[in-house]
Amino acid sequence: MKKILDCIADAIKPAFTASGYDDSFAKITLSNRPDLCEYQCNGAMAAAKTYKKKPIDIAKDVADYVSHSQNKDMFSEITAVMPGFINIRLNPEYVAKYLNSMEQEPKYGLEESGKGETVIVDYGGANVAKPLHVGHLRSAIIGESIKRMGRFLGYDMIGDVHLGDWGLQMGLIIEELRDRKPDLPYFDEDHRGAYPAEPPFTIGELEDIYPAASAKSKEDEGFKARAQEATFRLQNGYGPFRAIWRHIMDVSLADLRKNYGNLGVTFDLWKGESDAQEYIPGLIEDLQEKGLAYESQGALVVDIAQEGDSKELPPCIIRKSDGAALYATSDLGTILDREKAYEPSRYIYITDKRQELHFIQVFRVAKKAGYVKEDTPMVHLMFGTMNGKDGKPFKTREGGVMRLEELMAQINGAVYERIMENRTVSDEEARKTAGIIGLAALKYGDLSNQASKDYIFDMDRFISFEGNTGPYILYTIVRIKSILAKYSETAGELGPDVKILGAASETEKNLMLQITKYHEVIPAGFKETAPHKICQFIYELSDVFNKFYNSTMILKEENKERQASYIKLIRLTKGVLETCIDLLGFEAPDRM
Ligand code: ARG
Repeated sequence: MKKILDCIADAIKPAFTASGYDDSFAKITLSNRPDLCEYQCNGAMAAAKTYKKKPIDIAKDVADYVSHSQNKDMFSEITAVMPGFINIRLNPEYVAKYLNSMEQEPKYGLEESGKGETVIVDYGGANVAKPLHVGHLRSAIIGESIKRMGRFLGYDMIGDVHLGDWGLQMGLIIEELRDRKPDLPYFDEDHRGAYPAEPPFTIGELEDIYPAASAKSKEDEGFKARAQEATFRLQNGYGPFRAIWRHIMDVSLADLRKNYGNLGVTFDLWKGESDAQEYIPGLIEDLQEKGLAYESQGALVVDIAQEGDSKELPPCIIRKSDGAALYATSDLGTILDREKAYEPSRYIYITDKRQELHFIQVFRVAKKAGYVKEDTPMVHLMFGTMNGKDGKPFKTREGGVMRLEELMAQINGAVYERIMENRTVSDEEARKTAGIIGLAALKYGDLSNQASKDYIFDMDRFISFEGNTGPYILYTIVRIKSILAKYSETAGELGPDVKILGAASETEKNLMLQITKYHEVIPAGFKETAPHKICQFIYELSDVFNKFYNSTMILKEENKERQASYIKLIRLTKGVLETCIDLLGFEAPDRM
């Protein structure tokens, strides 16, 4: 369906043309003075310069023309006001008609503008064998939402978790394992034949091994050297270490899937840095042949500085002097892999903003070397830090890194307490509902901020049922569900020919106008990789709904046609809210 702003523009274009002005001036925006009008056209101000006329005269010509044209029924008001604005209010019947068609269309008439485009979304980015902590939380939450938005718009979205599965942590784990269980066959140089199919550790042990090894390597130079050597051997294909690596991967992946699953986050690809390795020798050779990579102080680098850079950007290091490949090299290898498999028309990477330089370097090398087409957008969506109430990066009370599971347990616990305050449901239902609301609180608390900004994790605020929070949105949906249930108990289901009628009150009209923004907000949210725009939209939608609800006797309405129209309108409101929260990655309970 056409966006309502475009419908209005189309209706006034003939007025511009007929009055002798170019119709490109017929641009409509939402009013910034809602007390005066709903929409406005400022085209007369711009046209005044071109036609050397007073803006008010142009505005009058246009408004007059529309008022006498066949399009006049669309408006309840279209007036020229000083110095040359055109103030517009829509006819309530027109708005109702628009909503009735929305109701009938799949996806409420959203145009699938992404058809035929393949987009890689690289998010999550957990490091295998290291616990998933809040630092990875934002990437997962934001990325999942971007992926869902794109998919809803018809893009072929491919979400890749891009695991950190090829670094020093693997060597650390191998050597720590050797110290703990020296008799394992992996450490017996004379071992012949296959290795055990059973992993030599549980996830619990593995979670203990990595931090212990990491701490040891900071104190014990010898241990660190061993870990580096083990990493090197693993990367060069040493069989026994590859076998341990496989176990680490299997055990960790099962755990990661569970953790991401609890967050409502799923991936199409579970690839990682290790999958890029086969491309690296060829990549290095190619960059050298193209004359892009050169030796500098023993390392191999590619210059990426460009004219117009506001600061000096260091070259991208492709290979260190000790021969080790690097994070950037692995990301370039991954790009080759993705190009081969999907030829994406867009890349979106989601990490914290400390990786800004890394991605500038990777993107520029990829384009310079021609691995990615010049006009393929490569977006790095950078997010800020999640801080505690003290304004410092979020930590546990003991000052450690908060584990994701721990964090979710805390939120769910707090929501549970709140539900039990006015205990109306069974304990079992309360726990289940707390999980649903807790996830919404966490995700909405994150997504409602502009991603690039730091934000404060404020549990009390996030779980509040009032204000700009996830639970408030859910509360609104639940309220609508309950009205709908009560209505159908007495009146049955809405018949197919029930229509939404023109608004009977101002609060009803505000609700209707807010719903029409849906067609604007979803494409904008995706294009600008800005889930907070969807949050803002549903917050306002919930607000206007609640104002309508408070001023309208829906279930006591005596005019049955009017009542059915209300019901249809609030059902549409619920549908739009539910669609949006699904794009944000959470859902609403039936009761709360
Ligand atoms: N594993 C990385 C980290 O924890 C994030 C990976 C992001 N994606 C990428 N293609 N580099 O920092």
